[in-house]
Amino acid sequence: MAQQHKHSFSYTVFEHIAELPLLDQQLIEAAQKAAQNAYAPYSRFCVGAAVRLANDEIVVGNNQENASYPAGCCAERVALFQASACYPNTPVLQIAIAAHSDLHDTSNPITPCGICRQTLAEYANRQPQPIVVLLCGGNGQVIRVENALDLLPLSFSLK
Ligand code: THU
Repeated sequence: MAQQHKHSFSYTVFEHIAELPLLDQQLIEAAQKAAQNAYAPYSRFCVGAAVRLANDEIVVGNNQENASYPAGCCAERVALFQASACYPNTPVLQIAIAAHSDLHDTSNPITPCGICRQTLAEYANRQPQPIVVLLCGGNGQVIRVENALDLLPLSFSLK
């Protein structure tokens, strides 16, 4: 007998960064700072990501573009891969994402692309604790998602 399933999730919208706990604010600031070092000459859309690990380390990344466009990589994956490369098997507690651009509107919180959601899902599935996602807009608004797995229902897995 066919069964109907439903997926829904809750998230919190903070009107300003200052409403968040200090640790969250600190991670968002690290993401904003990392966006300044993005290599994004083609899109002029500069993204920064900061990952907090269970060992208290903060690892940052930013988007790295390429004249062969698909060769580029999003900020989230640069940060996650760097974190995993430097601190293998250390759980990821949080990721903050921020962007700025002289060409595009970045006032609303930036949300990760599908490939980055799939990447986040794999890291989340490797550890017992959920990955908290902080999405920050230029207007100061922050979306807090308590579990990165909520961002990609039915994500691909070999398990
Ligand atoms: N980008 C990110 O780094 N993260 C996202 O969540 C969305 C998009 C990058 C990819 C590309 O370098 C530029 O932003 C424009 O798409």
